[in-house]
Amino acid sequence: MTFQGKTHPMARRRQIYEGKAKILYEGPEPGTLIQYFKDDATAFNAQKKGTINGKGVLNNRISEHVFTLLAGIGIPTHFIRRLNMREQLIRQVEIVPIEVVVRNVVAGSLAKKLGIEEGTPLPRTIIEYYYKDDALGDPLVTDEHILCFGWASQEELHDMADMAIRVNDFLSGLFAGIGIRLVDFKLEFGRIWDNDYSRIILADEISPDGCRLWDMTTGEKLDKDRFRRDLGGEVEAYQEVARRLGLFPEGEDSAVLDLESHRKRRGK
Ligand code: TMP
Repeated sequence: MTFQGKTHPMARRRQIYEGKAKILYEGPEPGTLIQYFKDDATAFNAQKKGTINGKGVLNNRISEHVFTLLAGIGIPTHFIRRLNMREQLIRQVEIVPIEVVVRNVVAGSLAKKLGIEEGTPLPRTIIEYYYKDDALGDPLVTDEHILCFGWASQEELHDMADMAIRVNDFLSGLFAGIGIRLVDFKLEFGRIWDNDYSRIILADEISPDGCRLWDMTTGEKLDKDRFRRDLGGEVEAYQEVARRLGLFPEGEDSAVLDLESHRKRRGK
């Protein structure tokens, strides 16, 4: 085979950005991008690195499903359509450099910071903001910092908080219906410009990478904490979330996701 013959189709596309779990490529039309989901997993600001086989395929599908449902209740999102197993077409946005974390139950950094036992239900939902800066380790910030340093305007902050609560209400119900407790999750938002005006839409992804999802009866973790805490069974956990959401019921997708048979076919 010639070198040209070996060229991967993706090589023809211009890469715009590579993150820890995704790559963004130039889209087919102006104002669009292609979001590629990798199997790479990181934790603790990339101090821990690994791969979760098939994660990209699962997150692409789970995020497509969730964003489609959110669009259905009127949440504007960057998602246009899924293109293939690992890629989706999205609207190009200017990412707001803030991670919006919504918490219903004490877990993770909140448990550690305040010395409260993980699993303690919160009497009201908490929204936290983290400034997206890897060199600083994404520090927790308040709305005062966000406004003072101009990372978002008052109106944008209001829109983000408002959408975060709507997403939380909807997703808490969606997951409760399939026996999963939505403990906490992270959202990212972006601006889209229309001449001199901009508005905020939901961006990034919603998947077990950025959510804590606990089985309601057993308490089993069905999210990236399996990787963060070396619990094992990451793929099975992500697959279980997809399965309960009614994704990959049958057909070729499920065959590809049946990693056990995939490995056997390849003799690994
Ligand atoms: P935390 O308890 O570590 O602060 O995480 C809260 C939620 O945010 C949890 O569902 C995982 C998610 N998250 C991310 O998606 N990216 C991150 O970089 C961090 C720190 C948390």
